[in-house]
This record gives sequence, C-alpha cells and structure tokens, in this order.
Amino acid sequence: MSYVEAAGAPLRKTGHIKLHGPEGFAGMRKAGQLAAQALDLVHEMVEPGVSTDAIDKLVFDFAMDHGVYPATLMYRGYRKSTCTSINHVVCHGIPNEKPLREGDIVNVDVTLIVDGWHGDSSRMYAVGEIPRRAERLLEVTYESMMRGIAEIRPGAHVGDIGAAIQEFVEPFHMSVVRDFCGHGLGQLFHDEPNVVHVGRRGDGPELLPGMIFTVEPMINLGRPHVKVLSDGWTAVTRDRSLSAQFEHSVGVTETGVEIFTLSPKGYDKPIFQNA
Ligand code: MF3
Ligand code: CO
Ligand code: CO
Repeated sequence: MSYVEAAGAPLRKTGHIKLHGPEGFAGMRKAGQLAAQALDLVHEMVEPGVSTDAIDKLVFDFAMDHGVYPATLMYRGYRKSTCTSINHVVCHGIPNEKPLREGDIVNVDVTLIVDGWHGDSSRMYAVGEIPRRAERLLEVTYESMMRGIAEIRPGAHVGDIGAAIQEFVEPFHMSVVRDFCGHGLGQLFHDEPNVVHVGRRGDGPELLPGMIFTVEPMINLGRPHVKVLSDGWTAVTRDRSLSAQFEHSVGVTETGVEIFTLSPKGYDKPIFQNA
C-alpha cells in the first residue's frame, strides 16, 4: 500500500459495520446539532414566494459562518448544499430559483461535516396552508421514523427498524419507498449498514453499541415506485403522488439509542391544527 493509500485507508468502506467510541459520539453530537440548527433556520424562513435556492444559500452561508462544509457540495457531481424535494419529489431534488407556492410540502436535507464528522438530517416543511392529506402524510412519515428509531438498542436487528416503519405506514394505505435507504455514517457520508425502511424483525445485522447510522424513511401517498429524472438526481414518484421524508442521524448506545440531530428549538415535527 502506498503512503497516499495508507492515509485514506481508515476512511474507506471495509464491508463491516464500524463501532465508534466516545470521540465519535462527541463528534456526531456536534455535527448533528449544527445540521439541526441549520434546519431550524430553514423552519423560520419557509413561506410562499421563497425559492429553494434561497434556502440552499441560507444553509451554505450558515456552514461558512461556522467554518464547516456541506457534504453534498461537489459530492459525486452534486453542486448544492442541500437537497430540496417538493411534493411528488421523493428525494435529491436540486434547489432552483422557482418560488415555493402556498400548499407545497418540501423536504430540506442537510449534511454538515464538522471536524470530519457528518451530521445528516432532513425535515418536511409546510408552505402556508397545506391540504389535509398532505398533513396526514407528514404526520405518518414523522411518526414512522420515530417508531423505527424506537426499535434501536443493542441486540435488536437492522430489520426491526424497517419492520416497525412498514407495519405502521401500510395500514394508512401509504407506501414505503424501497429504492433509497438509510446508511451508516461518521467520518464517511455513506457507509455500512444499509438501513432499509421495510423488512422483517430479526433480519439483517445485529445492532451493537457504537454503530452510527441514519433512519430516513420516504413515504408516498400512492404507490412506492420511483424514477430518477434526466438531471440524474431528482427522484419522483412514478404515479406523481405526494411523498414525504424525515431523517435523523443516530447512534446505538449501551442501553438504547442517541439521536444526534434533534432540533434545539423543538421544530422536529410540524404541528397541524387538525391532522
Ligand atoms: N443527504 C442525503 C442522504 O440522506 C444524500 C444526498 S446526496 C446528494 O443520504 F448528492 F444528493 F446530495
Ligand atoms: Co442520509
Ligand atoms: Co440526508
């Protein structure tokens, strides 16, 4: 192995799931909190007329002000600091100059690299008043993520997370997207394990203290199938039904789970009058 390869070796995927120690958890706490703070700023700016480019610029400026770097910027040719996924866009929507419109729902996904650690989180935002079915989709999607996270403890399996999400969502006649999943992260953006948001209890790797990954279910009002547009990124529902997603970065502790990306302002979950 050359000197250059050796320097990068610990940062490459190794085919097994890393177990992080207290330094890793401290790093993820800091990165997660900064990503959550950025999403809190987004919460305060989303309204009809605001463009997703303006949201992206806010997150970029926030990152620069804190001396940190947005992980998506120049990642595999991606050129923005956020993904902004509106209405039937499932994920990886590219910010642009078009204004958000009253009634839109939009996911903003932010990953900040802080001292080498990746804090990855996304939330849904309602643009003004949104239809009741959209409110219900956001409620169900948020609750499904939290039910998935609630499964996490040493001795549980990755499949328990997906099972909890799928069991909760499908009785509402909504569907869980199969084509994208949660992922290990830490000093890498995307690492082992894959965290599929459907599944069977007991399937997949056993969870051990020190594992760090995301839970980020995408839920559709219609069928689960997606297609990627010709820009190579934007994933949309094939049936053009509404889609929603929330994402937290979490770590397996000795006794359960730590969520790194909780909102300092309590903005994790959108509040509706009568959902
Ligand atoms: N933040 C996304 C995730 O949750 C990944 C976006 S990669 C990009 O994994 F290139 F599309 F930005
Ligand atoms: Co992620
Ligand atoms: Co993300």
